[in-house]
Amino acid sequence: MNYSNTIVTGDCSKILQNLEENSIDLTLTSPPYDNLRNYKGYKFPFEEIAKEIFRVTKDGGILVWVVADATVAGTETGTSFKQALYFKEIGFNLHDTMIFKKQNPIPQIYRKRYNNEFEYMFVFSKGIVKTHNPILVDTLHGGLELKGTTYKNYSKGEQKRGKEAKPVKDKKVKGNIWEYVVGKKAEDQEAKGHPAPFPVALARDHILSWTNRGDTVLDPMCGSGTTCKTAFELGRNYIGIDISEEYCHLAKNRISSAQLTFEI
Ligand SMILES: C[S@@+](CC[C@H](N)C(=O)[O-])C[C@H]1O[C@@H](n2cnc3c(N)ncnc32)[C@H](O)[C@@H]1O
Repeated sequence: MNYSNTIVTGDCSKILQNLEENSIDLTLTSPPYDNLRNYKGYKFPFEEIAKEIFRVTKDGGILVWVVADATVAGTETGTSFKQALYFKEIGFNLHDTMIFKKQNPIPQIYRKRYNNEFEYMFVFSKGIVKTHNPILVDTLHGGLELKGTTYKNYSKGEQKRGKEAKPVKDKKVKGNIWEYVVGKKAEDQEAKGHPAPFPVALARDHILSWTNRGDTVLDPMCGSGTTCKTAFELGRNYIGIDISEEYCHLAKNRISSAQLTFEI
C-alpha cells in the first residue's frame, strides 16, 4: 500500500506490515515510555514493532529511538536499555547513543536523586550508514593562530621554534549531546493537545543529518506529527502512524499549515 505523505490511524504493529521492505530512509520516533502516560487506546507490542521497523528500513537507513525510563518502586525500569539491546539483537547496529538534554526540564520532587533533564536518542543503522550530513558548530578558538612549539636540545644547549601550527578551524562537527528548550517556541506550541511532543528543532536536526531531499521519513508513533510536519517542510516524504484518532487529526492540521522551506 502507498502511504507516502499520509497520516494513518491505527496500531503501527499492524499498519507497518503493509509497508514495502527496504523503503524507509529514516525512522524518527518516540514510543510511549513505560506506562508514564495513558495514551488513548494504548497498546504497545514492542518486539513486533521493532521487527517491522527493521524490515522496512533501507540498507544504510537509520532509526532514531527517543526514549526515557520511568522510576517504579524506587528503581528506574531500564526499559530503554532493554529496547536498545533488542534492536541490536534483531540486526540493527547501535550507531550512536545520543542525549537529548532539556534546557527547561520539569522540576521534580526531591527524592535523593538529581533532577532528570535528559532522554536517550538511540541511533541505529541497518548496515553501514548511507547518509550523514553532519551539523557543524563554531569552535571555541576559531581562526586563532597558535604559536609554534619551542624545542630545546639540551646536549647542544640550543633552542629553536618548530613550524607554525595551522590556524584553528572555525567549525567542527557537533557533539552527540543536543540541547533544546521544550515546548516554548511558537513552532512547538502547535503541538498543544499532545502530552509529549518532542521539539521541532530536534526533528529538524535528525532529518537534516540522516536524509536528503526526496527521502522518506517514517514516524510509526507520530503523536502530534512533529516528525512528519518537519519532514514535509524539509522536502522529504513522510509517513505517520498513531493509534489515536485525535492525535492523527492534530498531526494532519499541523502539516496542512506547514510550508516547504529551502534547507538541504
Ligand atoms: C511519546 S508519544 C510521541 C510524540 C511525538 N513524537 C510528537 O512529537 O508528538 C507516543 C505516541 O505513541 C502512540 N502510540 C502508542 N501505542 C501505539 C501503537 N501501538 N501504534 C501507534 N501509535 C501508538 C501514542 O498515541 C502517542 O501519541
